[in-house]
Amino acid sequence: MTAAEKQTLAAFLDTASDYLRDCRARDRPPFPFTDDLMRGGAPPLGRTPLLRKGMLRPTPPSGGEPPATPPGPLPPEVTGPLHDAAAAVEGCRACGLARTRTRSVPGEGIVPPLVLVVGEAPGAEEDASGRPFVGPAGCLLDDMLAAIGLSRLRNCFIANVVKCRPPNNRLPTQDETAACLPFLCRQIAALRPRVILAAGRVAAHNLLGIEETMGRLRGTLYPYRLPPAFAGGAPSTEIPLIATYHPSALLRDPGLKRPAFDDLKFLMAHLASLDPVYRAEAQPLINKYAAKDSRLAPLAE
Ligand code: URA
Repeated sequence: MTAAEKQTLAAFLDTASDYLRDCRARDRPPFPFTDDLMRGGAPPLGRTPLLRKGMLRPTPPSGGEPPATPPGPLPPEVTGPLHDAAAAVEGCRACGLARTRTRSVPGEGIVPPLVLVVGEAPGAEEDASGRPFVGPAGCLLDDMLAAIGLSRLRNCFIANVVKCRPPNNRLPTQDETAACLPFLCRQIAALRPRVILAAGRVAAHNLLGIEETMGRLRGTLYPYRLPPAFAGGAPSTEIPLIATYHPSALLRDPGLKRPAFDDLKFLMAHLASLDPVYRAEAQPLINKYAAKDSRLAPLAE
């Protein structure tokens, strides 16, 4: 794809996303796309920046209103283990949250993703829409991702540890996270993200099994290993994991924005070392930040 084609598609997807969220168009600086790198005549690298591919549909409400999208046969790209996990979430009654939820929120985004962002649990807007991170914290998360050239419409998948809203946005209990964690493991096994970004302590604690403050957890690249039961018999490969503050924490305490931005640049440096397509597309942003952050070496043109 050419840079101009990508820009047109991105503008369309951004508009669609704004419309789905709250019908309010947002101003976004143009993303510095580049033409796809061609390798020996082969098509560009595997990730497919199409909205439809792997984009999970919002789940229908349990009882009450029918879903906005009429049910119909699922296209082949949303069947398979990821879709099975979403269907299992929808039918789950393993904890009390099933009685109070409006919709379950399995997650959405690009498959396979460069980055899997894992949050805590749905809030009111997510419970109503069946989509993750669509309220105020979600707007901030989208802005945070955009600052380093990431987006749920281009290269990320967004999910939560707990798939149903805890009443009044209370913290999920240990029983609730324990009941829900297998769904996240199934998603990770199906998605095979290159990197996991744990947003907030609930995500970091449950994925890493380390009970620490975010102040201590951040700034380190952890190896995440799927539990063997989810690795399909294969030796489980390590997925790099970076932890940062939850966007809701940044909304409560704007003083955390600076360290969170440092974490994002840390993630950016790691992604740039892993993925040449990301590195090429994010190069102008990397060069911009490199002046103030030695982890981000400016790239030669
Ligand atoms: N907070 C989360 O952790 N997840 C959401 O989906 C929304 C808010």
